[in-house]
Amino acid sequence: MALVNMKQMLEHAHTNGYAVGAFDLVSLDFLEAILDAAGHCRAPVILSLAESHFEYFDFELVMPAVVAGARRASVPVAIHLDHGESLSSAVRGINLGCNGVMVDASHLPLEENIAASRKVVEMARGCGVPVEGELGYVPGVEGEDAERHPGEIAYTSVEDARRYVAESGVDFLAVSVGTVHGRMQGEPRLDFQRLAGIDQALGIPLVIHGGTGLADEQFRSLIENGVSKINYYTALADAAGGRIVGNASAGAKSYTALVAGVRQAIAEEVERCIRLWGGAGQAEAVLAHCEPWEPVEHIILYNVEKLDEREVREMMAEGRRVLPSIPGVQAVDTGIAAQDAAKYRYCWRIRFCHPAVIDSYRDHPDHKAFADHRFRPYAGDRISIDYRLVE
Ligand code: 13P
Repeated sequence: MALVNMKQMLEHAHTNGYAVGAFDLVSLDFLEAILDAAGHCRAPVILSLAESHFEYFDFELVMPAVVAGARRASVPVAIHLDHGESLSSAVRGINLGCNGVMVDASHLPLEENIAASRKVVEMARGCGVPVEGELGYVPGVEGEDAERHPGEIAYTSVEDARRYVAESGVDFLAVSVGTVHGRMQGEPRLDFQRLAGIDQALGIPLVIHGGTGLADEQFRSLIENGVSKINYYTALADAAGGRIVGNASAGAKSYTALVAGVRQAIAEEVERCIRLWGGAGQAEAVLAHCEPWEPVEHIILYNVEKLDEREVREMMAEGRRVLPSIPGVQAVDTGIAAQDAAKYRYCWRIRFCHPAVIDSYRDHPDHKAFADHRFRPYAGDRISIDYRLVE
């Protein structure tokens, strides 16, 4: 299993002078292509899911496949929520399996951006999950012509960056130094001096959004100046689209004929980027450096008194309704012993995304209210153990 701690992954890249690709995916073809390419060049990789893309796929349905792909990979993988719009988006992403989240409050004034980001950081800390914040504004929309969304670039200033990171507590910073999201005409002019100043002031992994369309030399200079994560999507979508158009002009009519070769086209572009950004061949060193991302099963075996069987089932149903929205809770299962003679008749099996959730869950008000009023008064006879899942 190669799902690893994303903070440690990016720190390795930052210390060793390369950048990890964070490739946005919108379908299983993208997922397989990104993992194939990373596996082929033995590189760490980030599977990125942008909230703005949720209209193209069902986030809840896709995430089990993304987690399974990451766990099956032999190279180090992290799963990131890209451009999360709110605290509840971040909780949802974490509970579905993201082990890194971005809070994008960059459109707000500095004070409000700090406050919104800090809320996400406080929640995510309790789940062991690192947070990427953004300061300044990178215009455009992934997958579209940048000119259709012209907004002014708001460059990140060194002073604001210093204050934003200190007060919000984010682990990585997305900076605005001249890139735009989506397809652009001509070559963007990047402010490397500004980037170097931010890098020196902060010393944390920096992130570039809007990777599509930059020249090889520009990528190299970005990485030399502290960029450790590069977000990339439009060029992959165009490679996939180009293959479909080619298949259609060659007479393809069915879905499978139209998408033939799409995965390979995406994988070629991902591999080109990984090699250019220096990640190729780093997989083994990253695996040695990073903790595996291991969930915890919180198991409670119990007997009840003062409740009949129907009331026990109602109490369980309420737990299944209330507890899954607590940050870091990935699943809540309830069970009844298969054998009448079992020492304990009932069980809870609650999956936490990370050992940090053992404490934050225990202290969460929704858990306390449920446990103190609906569960503990009736379940004095119980044992409770947290198991780290090892593979
Ligand atoms: P591009 O689509 O320009 O590559 O940008 C992707 C991105 O920044 C996603 O957050």
